Amino acid sequence: VILYVRGSFVPDSQAVISVLDRGFLYGDAVYETVRSAGGKILFWSDHEQRLHHSAHLLGIDIGPGSPDPLAILKELLGRNDLADARLRLVVTRGAGDRDQLTGFVPSWVVLCEPFTPPGEEFYAAGIRAVRVATVRNAVASLNPEIKSCNLLNNSLARREAIARDAQEGVMLNPQGFLAEGAFSNLFWVDAGGRLSTPALSVGILPGVTRQKVLLVARRAGLTVREVEARPEELDAAREIFLTSTSWEVLGVTTWNGSPVGDGREGARARSLRAALRRLYDEPGESR
Ligand code: PDD
Repeated sequence: VILYVRGSFVPDSQAVISVLDRGFLYGDAVYETVRSAGGKILFWSDHEQRLHHSAHLLGIDIGPGSPDPLAILKELLGRNDLADARLRLVVTRGAGDRDQLTGFVPSWVVLCEPFTPPGEEFYAAGIRAVRVATVRNAVASLNPEIKSCNLLNNSLARREAIARDAQEGVMLNPQGFLAEGAFSNLFWVDAGGRLSTPALSVGILPGVTRQKVLLVARRAGLTVREVEARPEELDAAREIFLTSTSWEVLGVTTWNGSPVGDGREGARARSLRAALRRLYDEPGESR
């Protein structure tokens, strides 16, 4: 597969970056994972905005004179002859003076791989998730709003989940409120049928899929709450599901070792995934 590294399109075997790059040394970099379907980049403008926001918060300059990311993504789809792909756009601070933090030219790297969502049976079965002891980074330490390549907090949570035979770990914030999964956002349907998700004020990644699911849920007339909630709320939930670019809307059918509802995907998750997929084709959403 062909990848993009600092101005060149190269085979993956030749896709290399300097060991002096701060992305390698410190995780001092930002990224976006995007998907294409039928050759179109899904929700591009949302991903582009978040990339700029992340870069801004870290002071990585991706202003005028920078490569055009959408053009690179399209070029990669063409060169790899892929219509349905997952692409990872990475911008590091680059290499420079480590004491003065000057002299950096950001390194742009884009990975590309074939991707089609899992089949209906995977979604019907759902996954096992557990609450993990790893606490989501405090906003004042490393704001989770920044989609940075410093993913140790997320990796520790994922490792805990795997050690407990689960596929995703749900973290709390430092105040003990439900935050998000290691690599996904969290939703649940409470006993009264209301759809709930942690508020951005909890300190989470503002997921593009989260935002789109909120949009289609409100359009469908559902009661939606963005809340600061205690983990006990999940124990009483009728449905729990996770959202991300790769998973779209994926049911949690086993929570902390116990079945959620009847232990199969819930009706809300199923209908919201269908609504999300319909959104891909709406004018302006995909490029
Ligand atoms: N994961 N929360 C965290 C901590 C994430 O890493 C992700 C994304 C999400 C979901 O965001 P979105 O809907 O914009 O994909 C939430 C991606 C898929 C990744 O790490 O590659």
